[in-house]
Amino acid sequence: MSTATHALHFEILCGSERAQGNTELVAEHMQSLFRGLGASAGLIRLREHRIDPCGRCGECNLRTVPCAQDDDMPAIVRRLQAASGLVYAVPVHGYGMAHPMQIFIERAGVGYLRFERPLANKVAGAVVTGRRYAHEPVFNQLVNNILLNRMILVGSGYPATVRGGSPGAALQDSEGLEAVRSLASRMVGMARLLQSIPAEDVTAFLSPDTTNERITRRIAVSPT
Ligand SMILES: Cc1cc2nc3c(=O)[nH]c(=O)nc-3n(C[C@H](O)[C@H](O)[C@H](O)COP(=O)(O)O)c2cc1C
Repeated sequence: MSTATHALHFEILCGSERAQGNTELVAEHMQSLFRGLGASAGLIRLREHRIDPCGRCGECNLRTVPCAQDDDMPAIVRRLQAASGLVYAVPVHGYGMAHPMQIFIERAGVGYLRFERPLANKVAGAVVTGRRYAHEPVFNQLVNNILLNRMILVGSGYPATVRGGSPGAALQDSEGLEAVRSLASRMVGMARLLQSIPAEDVTAFLSPDTTNERITRRIAVSPT
């Protein structure tokens, strides 16, 4: 039985193209919230990494080995794997999510997360920034991705959607920031709760369904 407690570490994945834009400012704010709760937190700025979009092969549903594209994706996924939990933080663009995060999700899903579900049982949360419109569809997409990957989503009360169009305005949205605070607090609490359970029990209770649905043949995919 192992209930080893180690320092909690979270990674915040920031999907904005802009340095010191609203999303990055909120992500940095959340970093300091995690630190105030006794955890460390890294910030992965997708804009600083080479992440190529999906290519033209179109064979994702048939591949039995990870994506062959050679860029920064594996290193980012390894960083996420090493963390106790992670946060997706992204701005709304054109009523959808900004493209760095969309590309990350497409590439990570098929290339790195599908086969082993390596992020299963990580504590996870989503933060969406934007001027005013379509935060919720973006939030819902992130939540679906978290659940697809068998992560453990904790509620923050109202969703962590933060309003602000002009630079820095998001840090004035007290209601949005209260949801971010609640999210960070509950993520740390859930991670500590998981730490208090023997690791074998977490795996035994939560992991039977963490492998590729296609490998376990619960979903058949025709090659045609
Ligand atoms: C190309 C583009 C499209 C945008 N589309 C939306 C939108 O559909 N809904 C919205 O509320 N805000 C929209 N915005 C505003 C941004 O979400 C807002 O400025 C946000 O703070 C940007 O985050 P950032 O500073 O981290 O880049 C858009 C901004 C850009 C640049």
